[in-house]
Amino acid sequence: MAVTELFDRSTVSDESELQLCRGGRLRHLLTLRGLSREQLTDLMDRAESFLSPTGQRVIRSRALEGRTVANLFFEPSTRTRASFDLAAKRLAADVLNLDVNTSSRKKGESILDMIYTLQAMQVDVFVIRDASAGVPAYIARNVNDYVSILNAGEADVAHPTQGLLDLLTIRQHKADFENLSVAIVGDILHSRVARSLIHALNILGAPDVRVVAPRTLLPTEVERLGVRPCTDMREGLKDVDVVMMLRLQRERMQGSLIASEQEYFNLFGLTRDKLAYAKPDVLVMHPGPINRGLEIASDVADGEHSVILSQVTNGIAVRMSVMAILMGGRQRPDR
Ligand code: CP
Repeated sequence: MAVTELFDRSTVSDESELQLCRGGRLRHLLTLRGLSREQLTDLMDRAESFLSPTGQRVIRSRALEGRTVANLFFEPSTRTRASFDLAAKRLAADVLNLDVNTSSRKKGESILDMIYTLQAMQVDVFVIRDASAGVPAYIARNVNDYVSILNAGEADVAHPTQGLLDLLTIRQHKADFENLSVAIVGDILHSRVARSLIHALNILGAPDVRVVAPRTLLPTEVERLGVRPCTDMREGLKDVDVVMMLRLQRERMQGSLIASEQEYFNLFGLTRDKLAYAKPDVLVMHPGPINRGLEIASDVADGEHSVILSQVTNGIAVRMSVMAILMGGRQRPDR
């Protein structure tokens, strides 16, 4: 049976509980949903400790010495994969970047048999990106109890380390989350980035989170996520502190959900004119990869409000933080 059939979303039980040990400590990171304000704050504080000023030597730690991290990316990635790789190495782990195109999964091996094989090689942390919903949780339910699973992007469901690096980037520039207005603009329907950021902003008490898109790119009942839907950029961006732009995820679209790319850019592309609706000190964010001239104009992507490359830098620190916190004080019974 295909993994997608096994993991019909309605059968997936609560991942937010699955990722905790008895006592509430994080064992896996599958979702930001259900984490406490204190847990998010600890993860950001630890990430800050791994940041060094640009041009200075990077900060290293021996927190994962003797541990092995396997990066299994079954969907394309530049930022997430490279930053997990660098993060694990800066924590002194052994790192295995499996080439999924030449892995035995291509020969019909099940994902669990592949995981068990790598577990037998004493892998401690699996970093998983997959196009099917439920795969990270499925693996988490089936690994040995000293192994951790990190979700590096799951279908349109969750991208928790992206959510954390987005939070950290906002925190570096804005006084607090409790007075924050945030607009998330673009392909909300297919966006795991939007879902993770929305969960995190809700936990931290952000009072005004808007999702801005054509109706065809807004999930039904999106208000239930605790956001205000807007189909007009003037209303959506009015006086916001942060604009998070999203890529159109054509690889997840069934049929055409926009009239044309030119019309989409005209109505929802972030230009200097539209950015003027926001507060004067607005932050412009984007998880990447960016499509210049489709969802964001080049001069805005590179402009004075943009923190897009800071998000990338913060991504390494956040992934170091997650791995250090998850593995902190853990013992392998068989070593
Ligand atoms: N933001 C993000 O997940 O980018 P990649 O697909 O390059 O990892």
